[in-house]
Amino acid sequence: MSLPPRAPSEIEVVAHRGVSAEAPEHTLAAYQQALALGADAVECDVRMTRDGVLVCVHDRRINRTSTGRGVVSALDLAELERHRVVHRRPRRAGIRGRPSRPAVTDDDVEADEDAGRVLTLDRLLDYVTASPGRVRLAIETKHPTRHAGQVEVALLTSLRRFGLLSGGRPLEWSGRPAVRVMSFSPTALRRVRVLAPDLPTVHLVRQVLPRSRSRSRSRPRPALPAGTAIGPSLALLRHDPGLVARLHRAGLQVHVWVVNRPRDMHFASSLGVDAIITDEAATLLHHLGRG
Ligand code: G3P
Ligand code: CA
Repeated sequence: MSLPPRAPSEIEVVAHRGVSAEAPEHTLAAYQQALALGADAVECDVRMTRDGVLVCVHDRRINRTSTGRGVVSALDLAELERHRVVHRRPRRAGIRGRPSRPAVTDDDVEADEDAGRVLTLDRLLDYVTASPGRVRLAIETKHPTRHAGQVEVALLTSLRRFGLLSGGRPLEWSGRPAVRVMSFSPTALRRVRVLAPDLPTVHLVRQVLPRSRSRSRSRPRPALPAGTAIGPSLALLRHDPGLVARLHRAGLQVHVWVVNRPRDMHFASSLGVDAIITDEAATLLHHLGRG
């Protein structure tokens, strides 16, 4: 069934790694800010520790986002928890060159003993489900080939434990699923759909062909995946703006990432995408007339 383009007021605002422009990414402080601003959803990357715990960490290593060093999947949770989360931002269009903020302070740690520690997925789910404000979750699985299949099983087990998934169906808030799973890996998404057929999935794609190749061949198109939505990078959408209408005609939602500049927000919203993933949730809400 073909989907209509979304009006700006209907576009879902997804706070990338929490409000990662303002607080250390993947910390409760960043997610609290997303709720306070009125974001519709929060994005979170998950990786599995050596002892099988899902933690909210983007990079393969903890070097950028903590005081420690090492590969997440080679460390136990207790080892990860020895290090403090720090605020170092990745290089990305629209945020490059902005100064880093200080690490979580000792005052923060005193106020909340978890504040300076790596955030586990369960702690995030506990926070979101206990909050009166309803914010949806867009959870991205990383390293799908490591711990083959265990990440998806652990993720769905956690969603069930917090009442976000029941019998393969996601909980609904205001008529929309409260949670969805995203991945660059079709294999990971297929595993999720086998385990929970009604849980929405987003296939993330970043492929852009070099100009010389794209002239001689048809424009890059992501292979239609098993997902209920496609998550193209902003670069891919800029390269191929007609992608949104084509995907909508195929009945697939479009969730574009990561859109931080006002001019890019204008571009994405004018195409009628379904969700915009951003580090700058306050700016996007304002742009869409909601802040
Ligand atoms: O939301 C999709 C986006 O987060 C994918 O890129 O590298 O920030 O996880 P990355
Ligand atoms: Ca991500």
